[in-house]
Amino acid sequence: MPKQPSRPTIISDPHAMTAWAEQQRNASRRIGVVPTMGALHAGHVSLVERSCQECDATVLTIFVNPTQFGPHEDFQKYPRTLEADLAAIAHLLVEVAFCPTTSAMYPPDHATRVEVAGPAMPWEGAHRPGHFSGVATIVLKLFEIVRPQVAYFGQKDYQQTLVVRRMVEDLNVPVELVICPTLREADGLAMSSRNAYLSTESRQKALRLSQALNLAQERFRAGARDAAKLRAEMLALFTDVPGAQVDYVALVDPTSLAEVADLSETTVALLAVRVDGTRLIDNARLGA
Ligand code: PAF
Repeated sequence: MPKQPSRPTIISDPHAMTAWAEQQRNASRRIGVVPTMGALHAGHVSLVERSCQECDATVLTIFVNPTQFGPHEDFQKYPRTLEADLAAIAHLLVEVAFCPTTSAMYPPDHATRVEVAGPAMPWEGAHRPGHFSGVATIVLKLFEIVRPQVAYFGQKDYQQTLVVRRMVEDLNVPVELVICPTLREADGLAMSSRNAYLSTESRQKALRLSQALNLAQERFRAGARDAAKLRAEMLALFTDVPGAQVDYVALVDPTSLAEVADLSETTVALLAVRVDGTRLIDNARLGA
């Protein structure tokens, strides 16, 4: 009889997690993992849904990973909402929520990190030194602990998906990556756990990010091919927004992340903007 949704088993000990996952593999069950930092929104839930559809056992990981935050970033205030997170997936058959402690993941004597280059260097990598090394380290640890056959990530963190893919290929990690589309609010704002920081007024300003991406796609559809001109138009959308500080607006090659001179269907527009102190990222392919 098919299993019914029920509250997932919460495992916090990495060794217990590994033992559980090994039992599943021994029973020929395909394990899907959805790595998150919690504060789940509908975008995360869509990843969990996809894993539940495609795998025999889904493991949701919830861990606010300190090594991917810079010293002046929002690690301390990052929302920690375990009960609400469990409620958000209660309708799905998630077998385990893996919620380790920081000391279990990073014992005091730990001394190893994954070093990343290539797609980790520009854009987010340049603005958040050490961020992708922290992401790659925790993702590799989660992959080692759970040894899933499949892992689900959101397209909203476009550069992160390239960094994780590079790491998986470079380090021969036997996991299939599935990248799922960005989910947006009705007004276009990309779903993000950090949207919780936005006041009503800031949220209105934050709409400029998706508006800039819509503008880029519209201009491309209308025949625009000059990347510098389009970038200037996108940047101009932020000049009259008090409290908006652009980290970057870039039109890039989808694989190398190098800026392009001539736009094409596959060009990806990347944005990072601080809105009243909240740093938001978003992206879209021009030929959507
Ligand atoms: O995308 C995120 O939420 C995080 O970067 C991840 C992949 C869970 C690693 O901490």
